[in-house]
Amino acid sequence: MPFQAAAKVGPALRASRTSAAPAATVELASVRDEEGARLSTDIPEFDRVLGGGIVPGSLVLVGGDPGIGKSTLVLQAAARLAARGVRVCYVCGEESARQVRLRASRLGIEGSGIILIPETNLESALAAAEAIGPAVVIIDSIQSMYIEGLETRSGGPAQLAEAGARLVGWAKSNEIAAIVTGHVTKGGEIAGPRLLEHLVDAVLYFEGSEGGALRILRAVKNRFGATDEVGVFEMTGEGLRSVENASAAFLDHGDTSASGCAVTAVIEGSRPIALEVQALAVPSYLAAPRRIASGLETQRLHLLLAVLARRGGLNSGNLDIVATVSGGLRLKDPGADLAVVAALVSAITDQPVDAETAFLGEVALSGSVRPAQQAQRRLIELARLGFKRCLVPASTPAFDGLALVPVRTVRDAIDVLAEGRVGASSAGRRGGA
Ligand code: TYD
Ligand code: MG
Repeated sequence: MPFQAAAKVGPALRASRTSAAPAATVELASVRDEEGARLSTDIPEFDRVLGGGIVPGSLVLVGGDPGIGKSTLVLQAAARLAARGVRVCYVCGEESARQVRLRASRLGIEGSGIILIPETNLESALAAAEAIGPAVVIIDSIQSMYIEGLETRSGGPAQLAEAGARLVGWAKSNEIAAIVTGHVTKGGEIAGPRLLEHLVDAVLYFEGSEGGALRILRAVKNRFGATDEVGVFEMTGEGLRSVENASAAFLDHGDTSASGCAVTAVIEGSRPIALEVQALAVPSYLAAPRRIASGLETQRLHLLLAVLARRGGLNSGNLDIVATVSGGLRLKDPGADLAVVAALVSAITDQPVDAETAFLGEVALSGSVRPAQQAQRRLIELARLGFKRCLVPASTPAFDGLALVPVRTVRDAIDVLAEGRVGASSAGRRGGA
């Protein structure tokens, strides 16, 4: 009898409810639409990931490994904003004003309109900012800030959570947007920015390949835009440069005649990006040969090797296998499976793949090749880059831009590769646009 039970606790609940002061209310229709008021950072790839610019009063977290370029990005954004008359405060908790000046000079930033606040006490920094009344406050980094009175070490979980909570409240009540940087700690992420993810409006992660110049800014959460949107940058001597033709950047490499390379296009956020999977197979002297994957999941590599062995009759049990993805992209899109398979087949047989051929499709445990999501958009991108052929699942609808080579199974794909129908030929036009 749930209704009776509810009736019993009813009076007690009613009595307790009257003791609290009523919260403020507002009719939805009278709330200002913030969409129209976005502030453009004037950095196309940053704006893209933000969902079209900075929303006033929002809190954006930019996370990433130390040294990836977070400070560079936010300083460049600050300069662009300031140049367009937007007042910006830059709280530098990690560096002195002089050090920020040095970076600015390197970036060719003169600095008018950017107010530096070299401070690690968060409340003091926010009070200083409030007095200036900026539209955007940058906090670099959240780990360098501390809250007075909390008996824990600065950068620790309790400090981070408290600092995040105060910042959210402050940004919302003052209608000041805050961009906060945070280091991802290698391995254990306990004290890392992930602690703040649920608090903030947008979480952007900055990634890149070790040693490479390409940087990918990825939205993993965005209350005001699409998640999984990515921005592509190149780190140059004069800071970060937006890369609009991302595919060309990811395919930009020298030797296209080596075995073990296969190209596909993945969907990253709202756009297709072509990339190359590279695999290497060498005789192993180990009882359990090594499988090293970078940019794709080791599990996926194991799975595809198992499918190749069982469904394709191509055994790699005596080989060490390394597989990587060009440019430091992290491959999560199963539509790239067929390219991984092609790279593996090519590496294992030491037969180069034709430079004008690409691969598109998911691979099932049964060995069948299935359609990738948004295949048309990927094919358009591959055609744009000058690819002439693409191995696709048999069900793929006709496409004008390039020749489709239908394959039903992994076995079919191995046969097509072996027959040389897409075997090594003249170099293609990869990377052109
Ligand atoms: P930084 O923005 O300080 O990284 P983070 O704040 O994420 O720790 O960038 C540091 C790296 O970027 C450093 O290795 C030097 C390099 N860099 C350039 O290559 N070009 C530049 O113009 C700048 C400012 C930095
Ligand atoms: Mg920094």
